[in-house]
Amino acid sequence: MKNLNVGIVGYGFMGRTHSNAYRQVNNFFPLKHRPVLKAVCGRDAEKVKAFADNWGYESVETDWRKLIERKDIDIIDIATPNNLHAEIAIAAAKAGKMILCEKPLALNAAEAQQIVDAVEKAKVPNMVWYNYRRIPAIALAKQLIDEGKLGKIFHYRAKFLQDWTINADVPQGGAGTWRLDVNVAGSGVTGDLLAHCIDTALWLNGSIDKVTAMTETFVKERKHTETGKMQKVGIDDAAAFLARFSNGSLATFESTRYARGHKALYTFEINGEHASLSWDLHDLHRLQMFDHRDPGYVRGWRSIHVTDGDQPYMKHWWVPGLQIGYEESFVHQVADFLKGLEDGKSVGPTFKDGLATDKVTDAVLKSAQTGRWESCQ
Ligand SMILES: NC(=O)c1ccc[n+]([C@@H]2O[C@H](COP(=O)([O-])OP(=O)(O)OC[C@H]3O[C@@H](n4cnc5c(N)ncnc54)[C@H](O)[C@@H]3O)[C@@H](O)[C@H]2O)c1
Repeated sequence: MKNLNVGIVGYGFMGRTHSNAYRQVNNFFPLKHRPVLKAVCGRDAEKVKAFADNWGYESVETDWRKLIERKDIDIIDIATPNNLHAEIAIAAAKAGKMILCEKPLALNAAEAQQIVDAVEKAKVPNMVWYNYRRIPAIALAKQLIDEGKLGKIFHYRAKFLQDWTINADVPQGGAGTWRLDVNVAGSGVTGDLLAHCIDTALWLNGSIDKVTAMTETFVKERKHTETGKMQKVGIDDAAAFLARFSNGSLATFESTRYARGHKALYTFEINGEHASLSWDLHDLHRLQMFDHRDPGYVRGWRSIHVTDGDQPYMKHWWVPGLQIGYEESFVHQVADFLKGLEDGKSVGPTFKDGLATDKVTDAVLKSAQTGRWESCQ
């Protein structure tokens, strides 16, 4: 067993999911590498020390540049707001580190391209944390599509709905609300939520040729946490777009933080000539399937409880019938990354895949401005 020392930047929501994954992975997956929680980096020395003590990190840093300089760090894990991804990733690539970066890969596709160039030059293993690919029910959907069970695909539709920014008093910028500051987030729901829907869609249904989109910013001004002043809001609060996939299928995507009652409703459906699949984050261990080839008298939507040993990832967990949840998708992502190192294969979503998603989100934002169909290539 070879130890791989992890240095993580950021100890918020994703800092926790990643740390949990590193701690669990070797207990459940037979692998030749073991991630070691070597160092966590954050700007607040007291808070970062408390995080390190809670999760078992051996050391702390308050400057990510120092973390990257350290010879005892093998993997740099970027769990910071979006505006820092490029700078940290490019420096980490130059230092020859392996890199796991949160999504979206960058603020826009041009910046993402620079990150891809840096990792390709440095030849370092890299992956973006689009963790939904590793939910067993979604991995099963991928398997069924690849096996041809759906036949020709006609439609893909996805949405990701939240409601946490309806109140105009929610500020922009700073801890907790950096997602509302366009300079830090890059965009609103398009880069934050639709990016997940797009990554899953590209994985399941192939590339998108072009999109036509509309976006809206419902609250035009919000107080900025750092300046204390009311400032123009630069993010999209809601976005919807139509897409044409290269395989000829038509798609609709929608995301908003103004759908009262919805906290994190990510759903998608895919309709093929023989069968349809649908999935819902609120019931993430289930995949719904309708297969027209079933005999007519039993034909109907079936709800597949994805918990059995012959379904993706599940043989590593409990016994058939017992489900797993959100956190395990991150464990699977680490397991697949480490297996890729073992086999000498790069495992998606790589930074190149992250760039493909950023090209689509760029096209969505551009189309919302121009009112025209925009190419995603
Ligand atoms: N894969 C997913 O499902 C998923 C879910 C949520 C967030 N994300 C992504 O993860 C990233 C982080 O999001 P989050 O929800 O964890 O945010 P968060 O606000 O909870 O945490 C961000 C962390 O980054 C730290 N940070 C900020 N500036 C820093 C700096 N200069 N140096 C060191 N640390 C710094 C903050 O102190 C904090 O610990 C974002 O890119 C986001 O889009 C992905």
